[in-house]
Amino acid sequence: MSHRRSSCQANDLFPREIDIEICLKTLKIFQKIEGDVNCVVWDASLVLAKYLETMCQNKPDFLSGLKVLELGSGLGVVGLTAATLGAQVTLTDLPEALPLLRLNINENKSKICSMGGYAVAESLVWGDSSSEILKEEFNMIVMADCVYYEEAVDSLIYTLLCLINTLAKKPTIYLTQELRDTEMQKKIWDKFYMLLIDNFHVEKIPEEQQHVNYRSSDIVLLKLNKK
Ligand SMILES: C[S@@+](CC[C@H](N)C(=O)[O-])C[C@H]1O[C@@H](n2cnc3c(N)ncnc32)[C@H](O)[C@@H]1O
Repeated sequence: MSHRRSSCQANDLFPREIDIEICLKTLKIFQKIEGDVNCVVWDASLVLAKYLETMCQNKPDFLSGLKVLELGSGLGVVGLTAATLGAQVTLTDLPEALPLLRLNINENKSKICSMGGYAVAESLVWGDSSSEILKEEFNMIVMADCVYYEEAVDSLIYTLLCLINTLAKKPTIYLTQELRDTEMQKKIWDKFYMLLIDNFHVEKIPEEQQHVNYRSSDIVLLKLNKK
């Protein structure tokens, strides 16, 4: 996959509003009319964002003050939701995705601050062992719909392993993935899943524990911990 430059022009963009019901805030997320996979909100991000909200409904301090890292943030729905629910979030993606991601952070900054949260965007390319982010300690890692091309599978697993390989904190990883039904997508997911079960304790979160309106039999939600 090539890493392309990108910019944001106002006439390219259209907003999508996402309600965070438990704190009566509405995120405004700018998408691009045309662009790469990081320019639209994917359903798997809504399922994960709404799961975090459901968890906070059951346990109000679930995210408060936690250091959270998001991989492959795209437009930032998951990370921005976590930040609005009180987490200190580093949202990451390829360098070319950062201008639009940062625009979305700025757009929602006052709501996030009013809830005691924080959000910042940084570049983190999977497989890059030189990233300073790998030296940080996180309580939680989140990622939505990041398993969709074969070349990225090993590097994504490598990055996850670097991030959980810390002495102090043992971050819990929550990930959602839309299971697409082409042969290629099935093969990619199977390869990724085999590597997951080799390296992590993997728990599948049943649909009935997810948000009542934001769950789908096509989207898997997993909780991972270090073995
Ligand atoms: C299908 S999109 C999902 C975006 C967002 N998580 C969502 O669900 O709306 C996959 C994301 O992974 C990012 N990505 C792809 N390859 C990457 C890599 N090698 N390193 C870091 N991010 C990558 C893309 O830029 C994109 O934002």
